[in-house]
Amino acid sequence: MIILNHRFLQFVSIILLTIVFVGCSNNSKKDQAISLVPYPNSLEIEEGLFESKTVNINYSKAPEYKDIIELFIPKIGEFLTIDEEASDGSINIIVDEKLQKEAYQLNIQGDQISIVAGNKNGFIYAFTTLLQLFDQYAAEDVAIPCMHINDSPQYSWRGMHLDVSRHFFDITFVKKMLDAMALHKLNVFHWHLTDDQGWRIEINKYPGLTEKGAWREETIIGHMAEHPKKYDGVKYGGYYTQEEIKEVVAYADELGIMVLPEIEMPGHAVAAARAFPNLTCTGKPQPFNEWGVSDDVFCAGNENTFHFLQDVIDEVIELFPSEYIHVGGDECPKTKWETCKKCQARMKKEGLHDEMELQSYFIKRMEKYISSKGKKLIGWDEILEGGLAEGATVMSWQGVSGGVEAASHGHDVIICPNAEVYLDHYQSNYNEPLAIAGLTTMESIYNWSPMPDSLDAKYKHHVLGAQANVWTEYMPASEQVEYMVFPRLSALSEMLWTNDEVQNFDAFTARMNQHYKRLDALNLNYRIPYPEGLLPVDVLTPVTNNVELHVPIDDAQIYYTTDGSDPKKSGKRYVNELVFSDDKRNAIEFKYATKMPNGRWSNLASSLIYNNDRFKSYTEAVETGVLSKVKVGEFSSTQISFEEWNHTRIQDGIRVSKKAPKNFFGEELYGYIKVPESGVYTFTLSSNDGSKLWIHDREIIDNDGFSYGRTREGKVALEAGMHPFKIIHFVAKYGSNLELTATAPDGTIINFDGKNVYH
Ligand code: ACM
Ligand code: ZN
Repeated sequence: MIILNHRFLQFVSIILLTIVFVGCSNNSKKDQAISLVPYPNSLEIEEGLFESKTVNINYSKAPEYKDIIELFIPKIGEFLTIDEEASDGSINIIVDEKLQKEAYQLNIQGDQISIVAGNKNGFIYAFTTLLQLFDQYAAEDVAIPCMHINDSPQYSWRGMHLDVSRHFFDITFVKKMLDAMALHKLNVFHWHLTDDQGWRIEINKYPGLTEKGAWREETIIGHMAEHPKKYDGVKYGGYYTQEEIKEVVAYADELGIMVLPEIEMPGHAVAAARAFPNLTCTGKPQPFNEWGVSDDVFCAGNENTFHFLQDVIDEVIELFPSEYIHVGGDECPKTKWETCKKCQARMKKEGLHDEMELQSYFIKRMEKYISSKGKKLIGWDEILEGGLAEGATVMSWQGVSGGVEAASHGHDVIICPNAEVYLDHYQSNYNEPLAIAGLTTMESIYNWSPMPDSLDAKYKHHVLGAQANVWTEYMPASEQVEYMVFPRLSALSEMLWTNDEVQNFDAFTARMNQHYKRLDALNLNYRIPYPEGLLPVDVLTPVTNNVELHVPIDDAQIYYTTDGSDPKKSGKRYVNELVFSDDKRNAIEFKYATKMPNGRWSNLASSLIYNNDRFKSYTEAVETGVLSKVKVGEFSSTQISFEEWNHTRIQDGIRVSKKAPKNFFGEELYGYIKVPESGVYTFTLSSNDGSKLWIHDREIIDNDGFSYGRTREGKVALEAGMHPFKIIHFVAKYGSNLELTATAPDGTIINFDGKNVYH
């Protein structure tokens, strides 16, 4: 069933440079003191400094790149003057056409900087690097360490996608994103312009697309998995005029960024169908004001569908100079095609065996049209269904297998799998605003590679690169987009630009100290990490009664309160550690947050820290197995009463009851767990959907709410022996899972798989 492929379900599862440089350094991993992001592939620091009060620039040898250079001059700012006459300006521009696409060299010597590149993007990247050096080393005067940079990217496709259908963002914001992409030497902006929830591009031939298709009656509230569904009752929409599109394309072009337009077909077509219902199989598409996948798709049997889409593509080609056109192709349910007379007649006429081949027919037909116009078609990996169109490039999002298959047949591919580079995922396990699901961190992105291990070496050149995909169901405001995109996009840029051998996450983290200031200069609402070191329910260590917190940003400060009040208002500054030996309370309500040098705060973190009194063990004889009660119903949280239930049984371990239905139920498990030694235990609870764990009557883990699979932890001090526990979890539509483990004081992992549970 196609819904199982749905992306919502892919989870069930400076060092500061000191003034003196001693000798030369190369790109050894630990020695990346110059705060460049992404880091150059070869950077050799040389003795001395380029020092100057003003810098003049001479580009007489590169008149064809005058426009690019002049774009950067105001950015480099007050230090720079233009001196076209000077035969030896302090910045010299040299064109060397032998340098490969996107490559550049930067030589910084005592009295001169030379910039060498072979083309537009090479010069753009050289200046971007120079700009980053100026913001690190030019304060009152310019004093840049002498160095030699010889740089070019590891991958040629370095992109970011933005969904403007689920939520609409104006061109001022789009340009802001383009500026931020340019800072990171990214070169593809994939603009997801149409989807079920809104058609966002003006098409002159079909004004109805934006008059009707750009507006939805209302929007679902909260997480899409919640039952019953709730809606806000507020009309929502917006679109880009063709003039605005041209403005964005021209803006991106100046920054060396290709704008890739996406027009979705055959699925995700509800917005178009609002204006043209007859292009769907039934002619009566259902309203769709929620997230997910609608069954109403373009009818593949109706010739008008193809005429319409070709007309749209004609206007899109006029607006976008990119060599590619993206046609979506993902998540197209075949249910309506199965019963549509026109679709079935088409299958018969064309000798198509099933609806998958009809999908293939659809995309192949569009590919012929697009290639006849001199453009290349791109589609999500579902365009492999029923046979891939000849000239198609594949974007692999459901893992890497689609990409591997397409590359092995000689197609170019972009590898952007859901689990690794979707920025609609949570970026930490706690204290985050509502997101779709998953956990994708800066570190996980940095340490990932788009090159699939399983791809035969002879096809590796077909992997063009990767991109971050920004689906905006849970990003109603541009500030939230910025929060979700940054700083993860910084990690993505280095993962794609910098050769694997040069990449180093610790060095990157150190360079981010300077880079956050660049994000500040762009006024980006990037995520500030909250202080780490405590779980939401924690235990003071027995020896020192202390708490240690850390944040991976040098200039950031931590503020806290111990009375439940808001540390952003009344917090004390945390310095090295906190000692609580004089605090006789059983539990301390600890709240804390990170403050950046510019005054911005992280999300608030809170921990209930218990003193180290161990729970006494329970000594009465009990039998093996735990009690399970299953209650059938649609639940949105663990607040379920089990006074009445549908099934009960004693089972041998902590897991989902065999008596539970597949979907829609709540379950309570209770009994005793047995632990081998006295000390502090860390419990780990994984579930799909939400769950909670109590030991004795204390809540240890709150893993409640929809998650499609999430793991959370909590600590408690226990005496060796038996302890009463209770777990409540609920399961909605998309699969069930429950697992509890504990880490003992000596580090052993305990599974509650039968041996250690009693009632
Ligand atoms: C996708 O995430 N449906 C391409
Ligand atoms: Zn049809």
